[in-house]
Amino acid sequence: MITTFHVPTKIIFGVGSFAQLGEETIAIGQKVMLVTGRYAMRASGFLDRALADLSRQGLETIVFDKVEPNPRSHTVDEGAFWVRQQKIEVVIALGGGSVMDAAKGIVISANGGKPIWHYIQSPEKIDIGLPKLITVPTVAASGSESNCGAVLTNWETHDKCVASNYCAFPVVSIVDPELTITLPAKPTAQGGVDIFCHLVEPYITAAKPQPLTDGIVETCLRLVVKYLPLVLCNPDDIEARSQLSWASTLACSAFANLGGGDGAMTMHGIEHPLSGFYDIAHGDGLAALLTAWLSSLATERQDRIRKLGSGVFGGQEGIGAVKNWLAECGMDHRLRDLGVEKERLFSLGQNAIDTAPWLQFHPKKLDATAVSAIYEEAW
Ligand code: NZQ
Ligand code: ZN
Repeated sequence: MITTFHVPTKIIFGVGSFAQLGEETIAIGQKVMLVTGRYAMRASGFLDRALADLSRQGLETIVFDKVEPNPRSHTVDEGAFWVRQQKIEVVIALGGGSVMDAAKGIVISANGGKPIWHYIQSPEKIDIGLPKLITVPTVAASGSESNCGAVLTNWETHDKCVASNYCAFPVVSIVDPELTITLPAKPTAQGGVDIFCHLVEPYITAAKPQPLTDGIVETCLRLVVKYLPLVLCNPDDIEARSQLSWASTLACSAFANLGGGDGAMTMHGIEHPLSGFYDIAHGDGLAALLTAWLSSLATERQDRIRKLGSGVFGGQEGIGAVKNWLAECGMDHRLRDLGVEKERLFSLGQNAIDTAPWLQFHPKKLDATAVSAIYEEAW
């Protein structure tokens, strides 16, 4: 089996690495747009620190602070307009996965010249030009800092889909765990569950598991299982925050399938309609689905679920151990708690089949009925 391992991103990791933003930026270009969300980076002071560092390098920076959680394609198109209008050379994403994905969408659309949804429907090759991308994650969750994918919502159709393009690989990612210290408990827990799912979904669905891939994934899973509860108890625990940040950067990147283990994030494709239609946090949707998704594979992946229990949860039964861990992290809610309407489960299942082509790699055939059965079990 041939796998491609390609992460053309320089990852600068560690507490204090945020101070390198200015010098890393000037090495790439002069005209900068900093993309961020509407509140957190101003409230935490991190935006001011970034702008001060950039101006010390003599860089002129415009700020695009309109990104919403579950980023929308029209916001991305607006950002791409400013990039073209101001001839921006470097886009900096300072925020969580929503901000990093919006910035990636802006880079794809600005490089390609068309609205971002065009590149979701027809992922054509784009000549790599300007702007280039720097990501500075402030949430341990998406791992968007180490891949070229962006998850965006078309707010008219409520389709939440993945745009993936080589030009969206960050040139540099600065992963400073100190920037996650201000993250409240709820988004911290949502992020930890997201990291867990990036790892466990390919691990369970793998048709050809490999010892090296299993080793990497089980180590990261044990980190998340151990350190997320510690951070929830003590948000200032920088050691625990650092471990979650490392796991996050690794979990949704090509590093996680080194060794050739295959597998697909099929639960993600089932979660996206929930965030697309109800605008719920991605990690909340995953947490509600996780044990139902595992149970739906109890026959086809019995051995992998047993291995999850032995390799990650110290020999406990796999699904029960996951259930207990979610409860320990305050993430043991159900779809009904998130406002998902029972009468819409089938149409949500159809949307999952229509918008997530990788569901075809699920260990058993999925159609709208099968997906809505998983929703039903999680409801
Ligand atoms: O609204 P802003 O001001 O940005 O505040 C955010 C947001 O309200 C806030 N926040 C971020 N950093 C903070 C902070 N608050 C205090 N201190 C900080 N340091 O937290 C809230 C949640 O932020 P968000 O970016 O939405 O969370 P997350 O990082 O979990 O990202 C979720 C998005 O990532 C996508 C999801 O679909 C979702 O849209 N994903 C991207 C992936 C990728 N590109 O590889 C893969 C993932 O599976 C995921 O799908
Ligand atoms: Zn995710």
